[in-house]
Amino acid sequence: MKMEELKQKILKEGMAKDSDILVVNSFLNQQVDTKLMENIGKEFAAYFKDKGVTKILTAESSGIAPALMTAANLGVNCIFARKQKSLTTDDNSYVSTVYSFTKQEMKNLIVEKSFLNEDDKILIIDDFLANGQASKAMIALCNQAGADVVGIGIVIEKSFQEGRKILEEMGYDVYSLARISKLEEGKIEFLD
Ligand code: G4P
Repeated sequence: MKMEELKQKILKEGMAKDSDILVVNSFLNQQVDTKLMENIGKEFAAYFKDKGVTKILTAESSGIAPALMTAANLGVNCIFARKQKSLTTDDNSYVSTVYSFTKQEMKNLIVEKSFLNEDDKILIIDDFLANGQASKAMIALCNQAGADVVGIGIVIEKSFQEGRKILEEMGYDVYSLARISKLEEGKIEFLD
């Protein structure tokens, strides 16, 4: 739809593994295309510039690249929720549990309480939107902190899954840069 450059990249380098999963390891999930990511950051920043965003929230690991570029363009900091406690993680953290359909397991998202505050206006950025569970878990972290979620920016939305519907029904503005209507082995179709 909005980002022709991203769409072309998906068509050129993306690979539909089956009817569910799109592999984009060459520019998003393992190697990161810096120039493309810079433009993705600019696009999100332009769309959400009037929302008074104070911080970007994403989840490790693949959300970090687009989130950081967006944060840099908006002149704010970027927080990434961790999936595992690390040795340096404060015990005083917000924790939200999410079920991953792709991995078929429960996982935690963890953010130290000191980084999310009730006066924050949070923009959530993520690489993929499938069933919306990761976004829901990040919203839950913001709710725990009393912070406002002012929007959700997604690099690649799989529009044939439930995520957008769930998040829109919760009242959120979801802006996706590429919307995929159908995947078939070796074939990728876009919604617009
Ligand atoms: P949901 O959050 O929308 O409900 O999605 P789900 O639980 O199904 O997704 C779990 C993980 O798989 C997420 O990454 C998500 O970004 C990723 N994912 C979902 N669908 C696709 C897809 O079609 N292609 C690719 N490449 N990834 C997909 P994660 O576990 O957080 O991993 P990472 O951020 O460390 O890469």
